Amino acid sequence: MNDPYLAYLVAQDEQQRISGGVTRLAGRPLAADEVAIDLVYSSLNYKDALALTQRGKILRRLPLVPGIDGAGRVRASRDSRFRPGDAVLVTGCGLGEERDGGFSERLTVAGAGVIPLPPGLSLREAMILGTAGFSAALALQRLQDNHLRPDQGPVLVTGASGGVGGLAIALLKRAGYRVTAFTHRRQHADYLRTLGADEILVADAVPLGTRPLESARWAAAIDTLGGETLAWLTRTVMPWGSIACIGLAAGSELHTTVMPFILRGISLLGVSSANCPLPWRQVLWQRLAQEWKPPSLESLVGKTIGLESLFATAEDLLAGRLHGRVLVRLAADQPPPAGRAAGDLGDAIQSP
Ligand SMILES: NC(=O)c1ccc[n+]([C@@H]2O[C@H](COP(=O)([O-])OP(=O)(O)OC[C@H]3O[C@@H](n4cnc5c(N)ncnc54)[C@H](OP(=O)(O)O)[C@@H]3O)[C@@H](O)[C@H]2O)c1
Repeated sequence: MNDPYLAYLVAQDEQQRISGGVTRLAGRPLAADEVAIDLVYSSLNYKDALALTQRGKILRRLPLVPGIDGAGRVRASRDSRFRPGDAVLVTGCGLGEERDGGFSERLTVAGAGVIPLPPGLSLREAMILGTAGFSAALALQRLQDNHLRPDQGPVLVTGASGGVGGLAIALLKRAGYRVTAFTHRRQHADYLRTLGADEILVADAVPLGTRPLESARWAAAIDTLGGETLAWLTRTVMPWGSIACIGLAAGSELHTTVMPFILRGISLLGVSSANCPLPWRQVLWQRLAQEWKPPSLESLVGKTIGLESLFATAEDLLAGRLHGRVLVRLAADQPPPAGRAAGDLGDAIQSP
């Protein structure tokens, strides 16, 4: 358990300068209910890019290993639900914010946040989805819980070329919806169609208007941008439609009026993936592995990198030079030997 492993560590020096790099860390004994995971993949999300470049206050303490996602195989467990060799994933739950996260060969976490890899997903697919796919699924679930059905009209997705946006398009399409992609980058039109977009709106050709109510066009929307775009959505969603508010890639403010709410009955639904309760997580990961699993998952991979490329790739992501998902490859997957159940590899509860 205590043998060393590689991780990307962000630390502060005596002059208060913050920097990050790949470092060898020592393993530690497991506390009660903890699980140690040999990670195979992580992914780079918008929040991770803010953490790596220090452009957002994401890391709550230093030194810390960033990375809000991880998928791999259980190395040892003091949570009786897991056995060595089990394939698992973790997203959010304070990873890469309050506790060491997924940009590491090893992840040690409380078992309460660990999800057994559902049948139908590989470790790689779990991280193509990652927090981005999970958030898109949570958004779709919230829209459906608020009575959205495919026959009500098109669903608009903003930030379409990004991780959450692309996965929202793919999930909606798989679930039978007509999807309109809203993008600032015309050059990604073919990619967006491959994911399932029926119509593409290029931002600079869309007048946002200023009236409290504009023509109602969308049965619902999944918004990753915030700011003016989200305000425009409140003015253009159809009566009784909903907007799932996920992100702030274009701004954290929202200036609108009460008119869409009191004259059209629209709903603004929050999506917070990091602290989503475990029972919802389990249901949504099952859906992502089965009925909502996009057929085009691999086409969402914009780039696969190693730990050493994290910082430069984070800069590229924030500068809008990437599209789709960035996978972080940490090791080769080593499944349990054929014919042996994962649990046969060792004790259910392995002491450190
Ligand atoms: N609430 C949650 O639980 C949760 C979970 C995951 C992510 N998020 C948030 O969701 C947002 C998207 O995350 P992501 O991982 O998908 O990021 P991403 O991969 O970088 O995608 C963001 C997309 O937004 C558009 N965009 C970026 N900067 C913009 C700007 N300044 N103005 C207008 N459009 C811009 C771009 O798409 P186009 O070029 O196609 O327009 C870009 O591809 C972030 O704010 C992130 O923090 C929230």
